[in-house]
Amino acid sequence: MNNNALENWIGGVRASWGPLSSAVVADCRRHLEALVRAPATEDWLAALHRDAPLSEELYRDADHGFVLLAHTEPAGLYRPPHDHGRGWVIYAIQQGEIEMATYARIEGADGRPQLVKRDSAVLSAGMVQAYLPGDIHDTTCLRGPALLFRFTERDLRIEDREAHQITRYIAQGGIWTVEPS
Ligand SMILES: [Fe+2]
Repeated sequence: MNNNALENWIGGVRASWGPLSSAVVADCRRHLEALVRAPATEDWLAALHRDAPLSEELYRDADHGFVLLAHTEPAGLYRPPHDHGRGWVIYAIQQGEIEMATYARIEGADGRPQLVKRDSAVLSAGMVQAYLPGDIHDTTCLRGPALLFRFTERDLRIEDREAHQITRYIAQGGIWTVEPS
């Protein structure tokens, strides 16, 4: 098996691991920047390019709980604003182009939560973007098929479905808000 870059990534993140800090995020960004530069001849990456899975778990760390996922997205795919609960994530673009916008949550004039778009950035191959606990963002695939890696500090499916810590926003009357409770 020719999986050197993936194995190096696992070893690197495990060696860097610790409670959330600027240093841990910087290290994890660096490890992902190396991963997206992996030669396409490595078996794991060749398989992702060949099979183009919508979502595939590449690694789950039994000791620390972090997860690495791969997603293939067609041009035009939009993922509405959401946070990541108590987790933090780093996105890394292997191919294609993804626009990511960030939002702040404020209380609207009617007292309901409302998102205000802060900015957006276009990420192309080789670029990474980190979102820390509380950050809210959306994604739009501009050029596909895009292959992105999503590193999550914990299993976000558990954070979502069991812990109910993740907030997804819905569009209502031209603003992003939450379902009325
Ligand atoms: Fe996200």
